[in-house]
Amino acid sequence: MAEARVWHKAVFEVLLAGTFLSCLLNPLMGSAQAAAKATGVSKYVGPGSCAASACHGGVQPRSVSSVLQNEYSTWVVRDAHFKAYRNLESPVAQRMGRLLGIDNPAASPKCIACHSLSVAPQEKARDFDLEGVSCESCHGPASAWLVPHTLKGSTTQKSVALGMFDIRDPARRSEKCLACHLGTAEKNVDHRMIAAGHPDLVFELDSYSAIEPAHWKPAADPYHDLRLWAVGQAIQLRESLEKLARHTQSGSWPEFSDYDCFSCHHSLTKPEGSWRQERGYEHRAPGSPPWESAHFTVFRILAKEVDPAATRQLETQMQRVYEAASDWNSSRSDVGEKALAASETTNRLGAEINQASFDQTRAVGLLQAISAKAEAIANQDTRSAEQATMALDTIFLCYEKQAGSHPAVRAAIDALFQEVNNPSAYSAPRFSAQMRKLSAAIRDSGISAH
Ligand code: HEC
Ligand code: HEC
Ligand code: HEC
Ligand code: HEC
Repeated sequence: MAEARVWHKAVFEVLLAGTFLSCLLNPLMGSAQAAAKATGVSKYVGPGSCAASACHGGVQPRSVSSVLQNEYSTWVVRDAHFKAYRNLESPVAQRMGRLLGIDNPAASPKCIACHSLSVAPQEKARDFDLEGVSCESCHGPASAWLVPHTLKGSTTQKSVALGMFDIRDPARRSEKCLACHLGTAEKNVDHRMIAAGHPDLVFELDSYSAIEPAHWKPAADPYHDLRLWAVGQAIQLRESLEKLARHTQSGSWPEFSDYDCFSCHHSLTKPEGSWRQERGYEHRAPGSPPWESAHFTVFRILAKEVDPAATRQLETQMQRVYEAASDWNSSRSDVGEKALAASETTNRLGAEINQASFDQTRAVGLLQAISAKAEAIANQDTRSAEQATMALDTIFLCYEKQAGSHPAVRAAIDALFQEVNNPSAYSAPRFSAQMRKLSAAIRDSGISAH
């Protein structure tokens, strides 16, 4: 009885608000809500539940509501996640299936785990077809907050309290994206899959957030993207250390995808022309594939600014991981333990960075500090050069929006992208020279913290 009254009051409020009426009268939603009440746990309702034109299925963005309301259309028309399931039928996916002994990738748990909203029957509030990576893949199972979040006075905070995934928190968002863009114990892209045709999983939170067609309003904080980048680096380093530790316990050790791809996949030259021989092989034997540490190379520069003592500890721990993992005679358990120790320190630093302030002073400091490490970054590995390029791009974009453009600096960053365009042909001396040009351009353009 009391419940019915609340329900009527809710409908009445919506009538007054005059907006989400057709959402609310959608009978599916009533039953989903009932299911959530019965179990106390939110379950999945499928993307169709969000598609009504008065909910998230509008064609044009609306300005009267706090959200755009055309999220569903953006997702269907422009978002790669919508196509993720159908792409399992592409010729490349079919050939991958043949090479890996998978009859039908579109039905294999090995593939649909990341390419669709694939959940166990008991986690569903109602039946729905497999589609791409959909709303609840990122926003969490919706049955408990589906109706409440359409009501007048609802806010993201209130929905989060009811179990909506807090995708706006950079650390949580990073974890959510990386579950598919780096992998977990349950879902994994390894070198066997890559060699069979799967793209390598390269991810960087800010760049990937920027490539995804936005179905959200831009953040008010001008340094929001810088924070995304910074926190994303920490979480990604932590997750790749944990992935390494997991692989030491699995049947496929050493797992090539933990290593620098281009230490194996690069073109060869005569000894006189080899920059690798000229550079040497610090902390490993000549010719051993190094553990891929690109997420540390740039992150350490940022971390040092936020917490120098913890960063020194992490540097020592990371060197141990690098040395042990880059020597295939090391014992697995030794590598695993070292990776987990470093991951703990990274986690602590990540939490501090999520609390740190990001402003023009920090942006300028980072531009200068990263470009000053030309040689160290260039010599580390190809992916480190790639990470540094993306970082400089992100930081400079934030700075430009606030403080005006500097074409010479922009041109120097674009030239860095040219250097990492074809990773198999990467040259550390060329990248390093270009970084020095960038450093000079920053100095000459008078960019300063104030
Ligand atoms: C449930 C797994 C899953 C989650 C969670 C996920 N993604 Fe994806 N993402 C994929 C898959 C699979 C693809 C490849 C789709 C295709 O092209 O078939 C993809 C593709 C992308 C692309 C397109 C890349 C390109 O090369 O064009 C971007 C950008 C992206 N994801 C960003 C994100 C961000 C940002 C997040 C977190 C907010 C995220 N993804 C969360 C699985 C996921
Ligand atoms: C750990 C999660 C994960 C698993 C498991 C996974 N994928 Fe993917 N897949 C991704 C992501 C993420 C991308 C997008 C990569 C990018 O663009 O950065 C992707 C991209 C692809 C693409 C390229 C799509 C395009 O846009 O052309 C194909 C094909 C593909 N996957 C097939 C498969 C097949 C077949 C399987 C099973 C054998 C599989 N994937 C398993 C995460 C996964
Ligand atoms: C790949 C992950 C991903 C998928 C799939 C996805 N979203 Fe989102 N969504 C995000 C992220 C990330 C944000 C927050 C961006 C920000 O605020 O910086 C967001 C924000 C939103 C917002 C704005 C929330 C607010 O508080 O301002 C709405 C509404 C929304 N999504 C609805 C949807 C709907 C409906 C679908 C399915 C049609 C969907 N999303 C699919 C990642 C995703
Ligand atoms: C320890 C050395 C090593 C590392 C590290 C390594 N690979 Fe490989 N990769 C190989 C070998 C060996 C083959 C098999 C080549 C053949 O059959 O001709 C291979 C095959 C491949 C193939 C298929 C060959 C082709 O021409 O299409 C791709 C793609 C590939 N690797 C990508 C990667 C990526 C991406 C990474 C990093 C995430 C990586 N590899 C890391 C050794 C390595």
